[in-house]
Amino acid sequence: MSGGEPDFHDAPGRPVTGDRAGDVGADAAEASYDGGSDFAAGAGSAAGFDSDAAALWRVLSSRRDHRHFHPTPVPRETIERLLDVFAVAPSVGLSQPWQVTVVQDRAVREAVHAGFRDVRAAEAERFSGERRHLYDSLRLEGILQAPVGLVVSHLPPEGPVLGTTSMPAASEYSVVAAITLLWLAATAEGLGMGWVSLLDPQHLSDAVPLPAGARPLAYLCIGHPSRELDEPLLQTVGWARRRPLQVRWS
Ligand SMILES: Cc1cc2nc3c(=O)[nH]c(=O)nc-3n(C[C@H](O)[C@H](O)[C@H](O)COP(=O)(O)O)c2cc1C
Repeated sequence: MSGGEPDFHDAPGRPVTGDRAGDVGADAAEASYDGGSDFAAGAGSAAGFDSDAAALWRVLSSRRDHRHFHPTPVPRETIERLLDVFAVAPSVGLSQPWQVTVVQDRAVREAVHAGFRDVRAAEAERFSGERRHLYDSLRLEGILQAPVGLVVSHLPPEGPVLGTTSMPAASEYSVVAAITLLWLAATAEGLGMGWVSLLDPQHLSDAVPLPAGARPLAYLCIGHPSRELDEPLLQTVGWARRRPLQVRWS
């Protein structure tokens, strides 16, 4: 970073542990830090960052995966505004290899939910004892509660795409990158989003009318959240914990 712009990796107030060994250019060292929670409390602006950075960090820190929703409908113009993120999202070779299907119909959501139940039952078998007991208590989707579902699909562009020769998966990565922006935009709008991956892509394709060639990568539940989540729900219920990032400076 130059020109006095904030460098979030060196942000004051952000707890950094481990030997940073000076700074860039020093010997490789392991370091870890535990996320941007101080920014959520306003430390970003207190530390002198401009308001865009502070606002962005508030959104980044408050984004959650939601599985509990109010039935209040989400206006169509709000959904359209959210979908505008696809117009600004990065994509390999500017290929924009995506397609979105908005699911509002109850019967379609019920069909998706039936597929979820099958996958969940199969996944439960992978855990045993206490872990299985806890798994069985987890809430892992809001498909029927959320007024809006989005199926985000990979739609491979025709012809060769710049940037995908050695890493063809960059095409799918582009879809995921756009979904991340969507998640942040929903958070900024005061909406909740939940990502459901306990779905069989083939079943999803059968349940939701998708255009030819579209391969569904994500089912997203969107609506007004009915629970405030200060931390990942899986952490609150004791399933997993956020870990500090391991960083190697070389
Ligand atoms: C690719 C992807 C798939 C996910 N699939 C599910 C899912 O099927 N069910 C679920 O409850 N959460 C799912 N999640 C949400 C994660 O559990 C959640 O992001 C993680 O626990 C951290 O919580 P947070 O997003 O609130 O910070 C998924 C997240 C990602 C990125």
